[in-house]
Amino acid sequence: MVSATRLATPADDIAEVLVDEGAIETKVRELGARIADDYRGKDLVLVSILKGALPFLADLMRQIPIPLALDFLEVSSYGASTESSGVVRILKDLANPIEGRHVLVVEDILDTGGTLAHVVDHLRSQRPASVRLCTLLDKPARRLVPIEIDYKGFEIPDKFVVGYGLDYAERYRNLPFIGVLKPEVYRSP
Ligand code: PRP
Repeated sequence: MVSATRLATPADDIAEVLVDEGAIETKVRELGARIADDYRGKDLVLVSILKGALPFLADLMRQIPIPLALDFLEVSSYGASTESSGVVRILKDLANPIEGRHVLVVEDILDTGGTLAHVVDHLRSQRPASVRLCTLLDKPARRLVPIEIDYKGFEIPDKFVVGYGLDYAERYRNLPFIGVLKPEVYRSP
């Protein structure tokens, strides 16, 4: 017998859709075109931060019609919480050297800025030709570390969002839109 909880869909826990599928698609197309114009003729490596940036990366790379390579970092700071622990750990490092190459970091969300600041320091120490940042979402109200964003999707208010790669306790990453989680979901014991 399947319990009622298991039959519920992730979308049932969403209070409000902040960015719908159509808006994401349009923005990703715009960002991809700008990135292609800026990096044409350059040795471009997209460095994506697992796991949250995965859907964004998958869509964005297909809108960048120039040669590029992919690499991944896994960085953890949040754990099963809605607040950053402030401690950044590299769980998985790059597979290939980036010295002399043009690196574009692809992130899902910029919140306090702690993760990206750490990632940028880590990448710059490997002497790439350049490091720029692309984030789908920016929550400026939460910023603690100043970060310059080169390619930005959407500025969002200080609400806990999930979907399109973003999780709460590893769930909701598969929602095709960005939504605000109902507070009772993360307040329940
Ligand atoms: C999230 C997000 C960013 C980071 C942003 O990652 O993907 O990497 O937090 O927060 P900050 O600006 O306050 O540092 P998380 O640690 O939740 O891992 P995940 O991508 O695997 O979900």
